[in-house]
Amino acid sequence: MASNIKIAPSILSADFARLGQEVAAITEAGADYIHVDVMDGHFVPNITIGPDVVKAIRPHSDKIFDVHLMIEPVDPYINAFADAGADIITIHAEATPHFHRTLQLIRSLGKKAGISLNPGTPVNMIENVMDLVDLILIMSVNPGFGGQKFIPSSLEKIGKVRAMIEKEGRRIDLQVDGGINIETAQNVIDAGADVLVAGTATFAGGPDKYAENIRALRGIKKY
Ligand code: DX5
Ligand code: ZN
Repeated sequence: MASNIKIAPSILSADFARLGQEVAAITEAGADYIHVDVMDGHFVPNITIGPDVVKAIRPHSDKIFDVHLMIEPVDPYINAFADAGADIITIHAEATPHFHRTLQLIRSLGKKAGISLNPGTPVNMIENVMDLVDLILIMSVNPGFGGQKFIPSSLEKIGKVRAMIEKEGRRIDLQVDGGINIETAQNVIDAGADVLVAGTATFAGGPDKYAENIRALRGIKKY
């Protein structure tokens, strides 16, 4: 049993009219992290939610709030997301040439810092910030929308980042986001990922299915 795999449901696929209840439902259903996708209509071609919504849903779960910022600029909003109750704040390496400084800022606020790479971005872009990150997020779709198809070349990137993490010799989450379902999940775990973001696959079938959906993803074997 792959008890060391963490499941991070993306609330992008939740019913936004009932967001508090949805967050409570996935918490009850066994989510490890609550993955919050923040989009600005500039860095990515979609607009989702801001810090006030994070603050509003925060009391509905005692799980780790894993906030994925797909916004540019990013620095002016870090404090607001930290204050809203984020536990992990993940930024995109492509969103600022000064991501080293932004990661320092996140850590200075007592939060865990994550760095994310789009499918077209090489892994060597983050080799100089390995000491500043608690999570590395490999995007396996181009960010902006849920329900897209997994990009197979992500597997090679996951393998490379797994090797970088092992060399670092420190606990760093290796998260994958986009197109994760019970088929692709096995491949990303085999490649070295240990945190799976899943929007469509978690919320499929409505609240009665959340626990079963999460269990199915978690049940993938880690060798
Ligand atoms: C994509 C977001 C993802 C997305 C995943 O831009 O970062 O978190 O919601 O959705 P699925 O699991 O449906 O691919
Ligand atoms: Zn995401």
